[in-house]
Amino acid sequence: MEKNAEFFNERYKSKNIPWDLGKVDSSLIKIVTQNKIKPCKALEIGCGTGDNAIWLGSQGFKVIATDFSDLAVKKAKEKSKTKNVKIEFVVNDFLKTSFKKDFFEFVFDRGCFHSFDSYDDRKKIAENISSHMKKNGFWLSFMGNKDEKRKKGEMGPPQRSAEDIITAVEPFFKIIFLVSDYFDSKREKPPKAWICLMQKR
Ligand SMILES: C[S@@+](CC[C@H](N)C(=O)[O-])C[C@H]1O[C@@H](n2cnc3c(N)ncnc32)[C@H](O)[C@@H]1O
Repeated sequence: MEKNAEFFNERYKSKNIPWDLGKVDSSLIKIVTQNKIKPCKALEIGCGTGDNAIWLGSQGFKVIATDFSDLAVKKAKEKSKTKNVKIEFVVNDFLKTSFKKDFFEFVFDRGCFHSFDSYDDRKKIAENISSHMKKNGFWLSFMGNKDEKRKKGEMGPPQRSAEDIITAVEPFFKIIFLVSDYFDSKREKPPKAWICLMQKR
């Protein structure tokens, strides 16, 4: 099934959104803090209902957060108003559009890059992300990890191999680290994740 805006809107409408923590992912806090990523102009792609963008905004990052699900963006806007954090939320298909070139110093995605099944789409996304960034800017991505074996019928995030990631991003980014970890999750058994910090070439 094609994972287009309609597919994700349907998931948000039916509240079938196991990835939606209702709070910032603790790995984002850890990595931003440990790697001393300072407040700067930041972009989140596939921001969902906005908790991670809102946390970045609360830390002083100037955030533009995008998602192609208008339902998710509507919810994100409501949350940011309640929390009184100023974020620019934009409905945007990141595979098809670009809006600011050489602009951002930090890009974050949790579960967006991994949703692209083909090598061509992953490479296109990596190139598009890179084109929005200033040289030496950082991209932090959380992705499903194919090293986790699933039982038949078991649900979970799309899974990628290290090779899937490296071949798509390497032309545009230096990999600072690619580590195997777990998603912060509401599931009883948190899914295995890749956490990858990259720097624009
Ligand atoms: C697994 S969800 C993660 C949402 C959010 N990052 C979170 O952690 O709660 C993936 C998100 O990416 C968005 N997405 C997928 N493909 C996209 C695209 N081409 N352009 C913009 N957003 C996209 C979906 O609408 C969905 O909200």
